[in-house]
Formats: sequence, C-alpha cells, structure tokens
Amino acid sequence: MNIRKIPLLVLCALLAALSSVPAFAADKEGTPLYAADIQNGVYENVAVDSTSSMFRVIACTLTVTDEGMTAHMTLSGQGFGKLYLGRGEAARGEDESAFYPFGDDGEGHHTFDIPVEALDKPLPCAGWSIKREEWFDRDITFRSDSLPEGAVIRKAGASWLPVAAASAAVIALGAAFAFFAIRKKKS
Ligand code: HEM
Repeated sequence: MNIRKIPLLVLCALLAALSSVPAFAADKEGTPLYAADIQNGVYENVAVDSTSSMFRVIACTLTVTDEGMTAHMTLSGQGFGKLYLGRGEAARGEDESAFYPFGDDGEGHHTFDIPVEALDKPLPCAGWSIKREEWFDRDITFRSDSLPEGAVIRKAGASWLPVAAASAAVIALGAAFAFFAIRKKKS
C-alpha cells in the first residue's frame, strides 16, 4: 500500500465513525417510550401533535403507572362525540363499547380519556363528528420532550453503546490498516 494513502484512510475511518452519530441522534428522537421508560406520576401540560389542525389537543394530562399510561386530553372544540383507537373504517364495524365517550370541561371543550401505548409514536385514532355523523382519521403523538426533566428513566448512554462500539471498531480498523501498511513499507 502507498504510505501516502494512510492519513486518507484514517480520515475516512474517522468520518465513517462520525457520520453514524447524527443518524443515531435522529433515531433517538423518534424512539417510542413506553410506560416502563417513564417514572410513575401525573404529568400536566404534555404536548400532543396531531395530523390535523381540526383535531387539536389544547391540554393533556398524562398518568403513568405500573399498569401503563392514560391521557386525559382536551380538544379545541365540541365537534367530536367519541373516539376510536384505530381507523374510522374499522370503527364502523364496532360496537359502541369499543369507543371512548367525550367528557366536557364546562368551558366549551370536549375531553377524552384514552390509554396511551407509547410516547413519540403516532397513535392512529378516529374522531366521530357529531355534525356530520362520520369518522375522521387522525394520528396523534404524545411528546416525551414536554415531560419534565428526570421523568424519562431510560438512559441515553445505554443506547449510545452500540454506536460507540461501532465507531471504535471503525477507528481500530483504520489504525490496523495503517500499522500493517507501515510495516510492509519498512520491510
Ligand atoms: C379556516 C377554516 C376552518 C377552520 C379554522 C376549522 C377549524 C376546525 C376546528 C378547530 C375543528 C375542531 C373541532 C373540535 O375539536 O371539536 C374542526 C373540526 C372539523 N372541521 Fe373544520 N375548520 C375549517 C374548515 C373546514 C372545512 C372547509 C371543512 C369541511 C369541508 C371542515 C370540516 C370539519 C369537520 C368535519 C370537523 C370535525 C368535527 C366537527 O364536525 O365539528 N372544516 N374544524
């Protein structure tokens, strides 16, 4: 091997190692968090993203216990009369007991209490329009970044481990190449 290529090789190895870091960071953001990943407790002001501005969650309280998570969410209006956790098409074939009825906060907003399997994972649901008597499909995502500091149990360090190991392996490989190339050159 041409000895002048060694710095290039090592640089390539380093770049390869570094390039895996942003990819990992993006993945971490979208990693679902389950009840076991979060301290038991009642969390107010949890942010909820929705695929529609016509299904806006203006307030949400998340309760986390050993049994799982539930959300008490307040919608922006009174248009939806019940919720189904799934698609409207499936809801049409369901019995009334499969639906989550609305509550009223007395201030012009309907509320719903639903189970939440995971945070940072879109939850497909369908809202029943009282006016139109029709289901409307929505996806809502409960965001872990709105939880207070310390609420998430899972250690980010544990997830970093495979990336750190892969990076170390790439760097070691680069160094080994360089070592053998120099030896070959010397002999
Ligand atoms: C600038 C225009 C619009 C605004 C600001 C708006 C706003 C809203 C809001 C805030 C809701 C949520 C109600 C709730 O949470 O109870 C809603 C629901 C809904 N909107 Fe709109 N909307 C607009 C236009 C439209 C149009 C053009 C259509 C239909 C062609 C439509 C159809 C619906 C339906 C079917 C619902 C479901 C609940 C219900 O029937 O009240 N909206 N909209």
